[in-house]
Amino acid sequence: MTISDQGKWQRVWIIGASSGMGARLAELFARAGAEVIVSARSADKLEVLSRSHESMVALPLDVQNGEAVAEAINQLASNDQLPDLTVYCAAVYEPGGVEALSYHEAARHMQVNYLGAVGVIAGLFPRLKQQGRGGIAIVSSLTSYCGLPMAAHYGPTKAALASLCETLKPEFDAAGLVLHLINPGFVKTPLTARNSFPMPFLMSDEAAAQRMFDGLRKKAFEIAFPFPMALALRLLRALPYSLYFRLMRRLIS
Ligand SMILES: NC(=O)c1ccc[n+]([C@@H]2O[C@H](COP(=O)([O-])OP(=O)(O)OC[C@H]3O[C@@H](n4cnc5c(N)ncnc54)[C@H](OP(=O)(O)O)[C@@H]3O)[C@@H](O)[C@H]2O)c1
Repeated sequence: MTISDQGKWQRVWIIGASSGMGARLAELFARAGAEVIVSARSADKLEVLSRSHESMVALPLDVQNGEAVAEAINQLASNDQLPDLTVYCAAVYEPGGVEALSYHEAARHMQVNYLGAVGVIAGLFPRLKQQGRGGIAIVSSLTSYCGLPMAAHYGPTKAALASLCETLKPEFDAAGLVLHLINPGFVKTPLTARNSFPMPFLMSDEAAAQRMFDGLRKKAFEIAFPFPMALALRLLRALPYSLYFRLMRRLIS
Protein backbone atom coordinates (compact mmCIF):
# COMPACT_ATOMS: atom_id res chain seq x y z
CA MET A 1 0.00 0.00 0.00
CA THR A 2 1.33 3.42 -0.91
CA ILE A 3 0.30 6.94 0.02
CA SER A 4 -1.66 7.20 -3.21
CA ASP A 5 -3.97 4.32 -2.32
CA GLN A 6 -4.12 5.02 1.39
CA GLY A 7 -7.92 5.24 1.12
CA LYS A 8 -7.88 1.45 1.10
CA TRP A 9 -6.45 0.85 4.54
CA GLN A 10 -6.85 -2.88 5.12
CA ARG A 11 -5.91 -3.33 8.77
CA VAL A 12 -6.67 -0.47 11.14
CA TRP A 13 -5.81 -0.21 14.84
CA ILE A 14 -7.92 2.25 16.78
CA ILE A 15 -6.67 3.08 20.26
CA GLY A 16 -9.37 4.67 22.42
CA ALA A 17 -12.18 2.78 20.69
CA SER A 18 -14.43 1.80 23.60
CA SER A 19 -16.69 4.84 23.16
CA GLY A 20 -17.21 8.10 21.28
CA MET A 21 -15.45 8.89 18.03
CA GLY A 22 -13.02 5.95 18.25
CA ALA A 23 -15.89 3.42 18.51
CA ARG A 24 -17.83 5.05 15.66
CA LEU A 25 -14.70 5.20 13.48
CA ALA A 26 -14.02 1.50 14.16
CA GLU A 27 -17.55 0.70 12.93
CA LEU A 28 -17.03 2.76 9.76
CA PHE A 29 -13.77 0.97 8.93
CA ALA A 30 -15.32 -2.44 9.65
CA ARG A 31 -18.29 -1.63 7.39
CA ALA A 32 -15.84 -0.58 4.68
CA GLY A 33 -14.28 -4.05 4.83
CA ALA A 34 -11.13 -3.36 6.86
CA GLU A 35 -9.86 -5.63 9.62
CA VAL A 36 -10.12 -3.50 12.76
CA ILE A 37 -8.26 -3.93 16.04
CA VAL A 38 -9.90 -1.97 18.86
CA SER A 39 -8.06 -0.96 22.04
CA ALA A 40 -8.91 0.85 25.28
CA ARG A 41 -9.04 -0.15 28.94
CA SER A 42 -12.71 -1.24 29.00
CA ALA A 43 -12.43 -4.83 27.77
CA ASP A 44 -16.18 -5.35 28.24
CA LYS A 45 -17.11 -2.47 25.92
CA LEU A 46 -14.55 -3.59 23.32
CA GLU A 47 -16.01 -7.09 23.48
CA VAL A 48 -19.55 -5.80 22.81
CA LEU A 49 -18.30 -3.63 19.93
CA SER A 50 -16.19 -6.33 18.32
CA ARG A 51 -18.90 -8.98 18.68
CA SER A 52 -21.14 -7.03 16.29
CA HIS A 53 -18.52 -6.92 13.53
CA GLU A 54 -16.90 -10.05 12.17
CA SER A 55 -13.72 -8.26 11.09
CA MET A 56 -13.13 -6.57 14.48
CA VAL A 57 -10.94 -7.87 17.29
CA ALA A 58 -10.47 -6.47 20.79
CA LEU A 59 -7.02 -5.80 22.19
CA PRO A 60 -7.50 -4.31 25.68
CA LEU A 61 -4.73 -1.86 26.55
CA ASP A 62 -3.93 0.83 29.10
CA VAL A 63 -1.81 3.43 27.30
CA GLN A 64 -0.55 4.75 30.65
CA ASN A 65 1.56 1.60 30.78
CA GLY A 66 4.39 2.21 28.30
CA GLU A 67 5.60 -1.39 28.54
CA ALA A 68 2.12 -2.69 27.72
CA VAL A 69 1.99 -0.44 24.63
CA ALA A 70 5.38 -1.74 23.44
CA GLU A 71 4.27 -5.32 24.16
CA ALA A 72 1.03 -4.86 22.20
CA ILE A 73 3.01 -3.63 19.18
CA ASN A 74 5.45 -6.55 19.48
CA GLN A 75 2.51 -8.95 19.70
CA LEU A 76 0.86 -7.48 16.57
CA ALA A 77 4.17 -7.60 14.68
CA SER A 78 4.96 -11.18 15.67
CA ASN A 79 1.43 -12.31 14.70
CA ASP A 80 1.95 -10.61 11.34
CA GLN A 81 -0.95 -8.28 12.23
CA LEU A 82 0.84 -4.95 12.07
CA PRO A 83 -1.78 -2.31 11.18
CA ASP A 84 -1.58 -0.31 7.93
CA LEU A 85 -3.17 2.58 9.79
CA THR A 86 -3.18 3.33 13.52
CA VAL A 87 -5.52 5.99 14.90
CA TYR A 88 -4.67 7.29 18.37
CA CYS A 89 -7.93 8.49 19.97
CA ALA A 90 -7.26 7.76 23.65
CA ALA A 91 -7.71 10.72 25.96
CA VAL A 92 -8.94 11.86 29.33
CA TYR A 93 -10.40 15.28 30.08
CA GLU A 94 -11.12 16.96 33.39
CA PRO A 95 -12.49 20.45 32.80
CA GLY A 96 -11.02 23.15 35.02
CA GLY A 97 -8.91 26.27 35.29
CA VAL A 98 -6.25 27.47 37.69
CA GLU A 99 -8.13 26.53 40.86
CA ALA A 100 -8.44 22.93 39.67
CA LEU A 101 -4.83 22.76 38.53
CA SER A 102 -2.99 19.81 40.09
CA TYR A 103 0.30 18.09 39.39
CA HIS A 104 -1.37 14.67 39.61
CA GLU A 105 -4.12 15.50 37.08
CA ALA A 106 -1.67 17.21 34.71
CA ALA A 107 0.58 14.12 34.82
CA ARG A 108 -2.38 11.78 34.18
CA HIS A 109 -3.51 13.87 31.21
CA MET A 110 0.02 13.95 29.81
CA GLN A 111 0.43 10.19 30.25
CA VAL A 112 -2.78 9.22 28.48
CA ASN A 113 -3.20 12.00 25.91
CA TYR A 114 0.45 12.66 24.97
CA LEU A 115 2.90 10.02 26.23
CA GLY A 116 0.60 7.19 25.13
CA ALA A 117 0.79 8.57 21.59
CA VAL A 118 4.56 8.91 21.89
CA GLY A 119 4.81 5.22 22.84
CA VAL A 120 2.65 4.20 19.90
CA ILE A 121 4.59 6.28 17.36
CA ALA A 122 7.98 5.23 18.76
CA GLY A 123 6.99 1.55 18.65
CA LEU A 124 5.41 1.61 15.20
CA PHE A 125 7.60 3.99 13.18
CA PRO A 126 10.68 1.71 12.79
CA ARG A 127 8.48 -1.23 11.79
CA LEU A 128 6.43 0.78 9.30
CA LYS A 129 9.64 2.26 7.89
CA GLN A 130 11.09 -1.20 7.45
CA GLN A 131 8.05 -2.37 5.51
CA GLY A 132 7.97 0.95 3.59
CA ARG A 133 4.27 1.63 4.02
CA GLY A 134 1.63 2.56 6.59
CA GLY A 135 0.26 5.48 8.50
CA ILE A 136 -0.49 6.91 11.91
CA ALA A 137 -3.23 9.41 12.74
CA ILE A 138 -3.14 11.32 15.99
CA VAL A 139 -6.34 12.83 17.36
CA SER A 140 -5.52 16.21 18.89
CA SER A 141 -8.17 18.96 19.04
CA LEU A 142 -8.97 22.46 17.78
CA THR A 143 -8.14 23.37 21.41
CA SER A 144 -4.51 22.94 20.35
CA TYR A 145 -4.69 26.17 18.29
CA CYS A 146 -4.73 28.41 21.37
CA GLY A 147 -5.06 28.30 25.15
CA LEU A 148 -8.74 28.22 26.07
CA PRO A 149 -10.34 28.71 29.50
CA MET A 150 -11.21 25.63 31.60
CA ALA A 151 -8.83 23.32 29.75
CA ALA A 152 -5.80 23.71 32.01
CA HIS A 153 -4.98 19.98 32.09
CA TYR A 154 -6.26 18.96 28.66
CA GLY A 155 -5.30 21.86 26.37
CA PRO A 156 -1.51 21.59 26.82
CA THR A 157 -1.58 17.86 26.00
CA LYS A 158 -3.30 18.58 22.69
CA ALA A 159 -0.90 21.42 21.86
CA ALA A 160 1.97 19.01 22.59
CA LEU A 161 0.50 16.44 20.16
CA ALA A 162 0.21 19.08 17.43
CA SER A 163 3.81 20.15 17.96
CA LEU A 164 4.99 16.52 17.93
CA CYS A 165 3.18 15.78 14.66
CA GLU A 166 4.50 18.94 12.99
CA THR A 167 7.99 17.94 14.14
CA LEU A 168 7.76 14.36 12.85
CA LYS A 169 5.88 14.91 9.57
CA PRO A 170 8.99 15.51 7.37
CA GLU A 171 10.53 12.25 8.62
CA PHE A 172 7.32 10.35 7.89
CA ASP A 173 7.34 11.86 4.38
CA ALA A 174 10.99 10.90 3.87
CA ALA A 175 10.19 7.31 4.90
CA GLY A 176 7.18 7.16 2.56
CA LEU A 177 4.80 6.94 5.52
CA VAL A 178 1.61 8.85 6.29
CA LEU A 179 1.05 11.03 9.34
CA HIS A 180 -2.28 12.75 9.99
CA LEU A 181 -3.17 15.25 12.70
CA ILE A 182 -6.90 15.21 13.46
CA ASN A 183 -8.36 18.32 15.09
CA PRO A 184 -12.05 17.98 15.97
CA GLY A 185 -14.16 20.76 17.47
CA PHE A 186 -16.87 20.00 20.05
CA VAL A 187 -18.33 16.49 19.70
CA LYS A 188 -21.05 14.93 21.85
CA THR A 189 -19.28 12.01 23.56
CA PRO A 190 -18.69 10.80 27.14
CA LEU A 191 -15.64 13.11 27.16
CA THR A 192 -17.67 16.31 26.82
CA ALA A 193 -20.72 15.10 28.77
CA ARG A 194 -19.61 17.00 31.88
CA ASN A 195 -19.07 20.33 30.14
CA SER A 196 -21.43 22.85 31.70
CA PHE A 197 -20.65 25.62 29.20
CA PRO A 198 -22.22 26.06 25.73
CA MET A 199 -20.37 24.10 23.03
CA PRO A 200 -20.63 25.91 19.67
CA PHE A 201 -21.05 23.82 16.50
CA LEU A 202 -21.48 20.65 18.60
CA MET A 203 -21.43 17.54 16.37
CA SER A 204 -22.59 13.96 16.94
CA ASP A 205 -19.92 11.27 17.33
CA GLU A 206 -21.19 9.61 14.13
CA ALA A 207 -20.79 12.83 12.11
CA ALA A 208 -17.33 13.46 13.56
CA ALA A 209 -16.20 9.88 12.85
CA GLN A 210 -17.43 10.24 9.27
CA ARG A 211 -15.32 13.42 8.89
CA MET A 212 -12.32 11.53 10.24
CA PHE A 213 -12.95 8.53 7.99
CA ASP A 214 -13.27 10.74 4.89
CA GLY A 215 -10.14 12.69 5.83
CA LEU A 216 -8.15 9.49 6.34
CA ARG A 217 -8.84 8.55 2.73
CA LYS A 218 -7.06 11.70 1.53
CA LYS A 219 -3.49 12.95 1.74
CA ALA A 220 -3.94 16.16 3.76
CA PHE A 221 -1.84 16.28 6.94
CA GLU A 222 -4.50 18.02 9.01
CA ILE A 223 -8.11 16.87 9.31
CA ALA A 224 -9.89 19.75 11.08
CA PHE A 225 -13.62 20.13 11.55
CA PRO A 226 -16.14 21.71 11.68
CA PHE A 227 -14.83 24.42 9.37
CA PRO A 228 -16.48 27.46 11.07
CA MET A 229 -15.01 26.47 14.45
CA ALA A 230 -11.56 25.81 12.97
CA LEU A 231 -11.64 29.18 11.21
CA ALA A 232 -12.83 31.03 14.33
CA LEU A 233 -10.00 29.55 16.42
CA ARG A 234 -7.40 30.28 13.74
CA LEU A 235 -8.54 33.92 13.67
CA LEU A 236 -8.51 34.03 17.47
CA ARG A 237 -4.93 32.75 17.45
CA ALA A 238 -3.92 35.53 15.06
CA LEU A 239 -5.18 38.30 17.37
CA PRO A 240 -2.74 40.35 19.43
CA TYR A 241 -2.63 39.05 23.03
CA SER A 242 -4.23 42.21 24.41
CA LEU A 243 -7.39 41.61 22.36
CA TYR A 244 -7.24 37.83 22.71
CA PHE A 245 -7.18 37.94 26.52
CA ARG A 246 -9.95 40.55 26.60
CA LEU A 247 -12.15 38.03 24.77
CA MET A 248 -11.00 35.10 26.91
CA ARG A 249 -11.74 37.07 30.07
CA ARG A 250 -15.36 37.38 28.92
CA LEU A 251 -15.61 33.60 28.63
CA ILE A 252 -14.77 33.04 32.30
CA SER A 253 -16.99 35.77 33.78
N1 LIG B 1 -15.45 15.14 22.25
C1 LIG B 1 -14.89 16.25 21.83
O1 LIG B 1 -15.50 17.35 21.80
C2 LIG B 1 -13.46 16.24 21.33
C3 LIG B 1 -12.97 17.39 20.70
C4 LIG B 1 -11.67 17.39 20.22
C5 LIG B 1 -10.89 16.26 20.35
N2 LIG B 1 -11.39 15.14 20.98
C6 LIG B 1 -10.51 13.99 21.06
O2 LIG B 1 -11.13 12.90 20.38
C7 LIG B 1 -10.61 11.67 20.92
C8 LIG B 1 -11.77 10.74 21.24
O3 LIG B 1 -12.50 11.32 22.33
P1 LIG B 1 -14.07 11.18 22.51
O4 LIG B 1 -14.61 12.55 22.58
O5 LIG B 1 -14.62 10.22 21.55
O6 LIG B 1 -14.12 10.66 24.01
P2 LIG B 1 -14.38 9.26 24.73
O7 LIG B 1 -15.63 8.64 24.22
O8 LIG B 1 -14.26 9.53 26.18
O9 LIG B 1 -13.14 8.36 24.22
C9 LIG B 1 -11.91 8.36 24.86
C10 LIG B 1 -11.31 6.98 24.66
O10 LIG B 1 -10.02 6.97 25.30
C11 LIG B 1 -9.92 5.75 26.01
N3 LIG B 1 -8.95 5.87 27.09
C12 LIG B 1 -8.95 6.72 28.14
N4 LIG B 1 -7.92 6.44 28.95
C13 LIG B 1 -7.25 5.40 28.39
C14 LIG B 1 -6.11 4.65 28.77
N5 LIG B 1 -5.42 4.91 29.89
N6 LIG B 1 -5.70 3.63 27.96
C15 LIG B 1 -6.39 3.34 26.83
N7 LIG B 1 -7.47 4.02 26.42
C16 LIG B 1 -7.90 5.03 27.20
C17 LIG B 1 -11.33 5.51 26.53
O11 LIG B 1 -11.55 4.15 26.85
P3 LIG B 1 -11.40 3.49 28.30
O12 LIG B 1 -11.95 4.46 29.29
O13 LIG B 1 -12.20 2.24 28.14
O14 LIG B 1 -9.96 3.21 28.48
C18 LIG B 1 -12.15 5.88 25.30
O15 LIG B 1 -12.23 4.77 24.43
C19 LIG B 1 -9.79 12.07 22.14
O16 LIG B 1 -8.43 12.15 21.77
C20 LIG B 1 -10.29 13.46 22.47
O17 LIG B 1 -9.34 14.24 23.15
C21 LIG B 1 -12.65 15.11 21.47
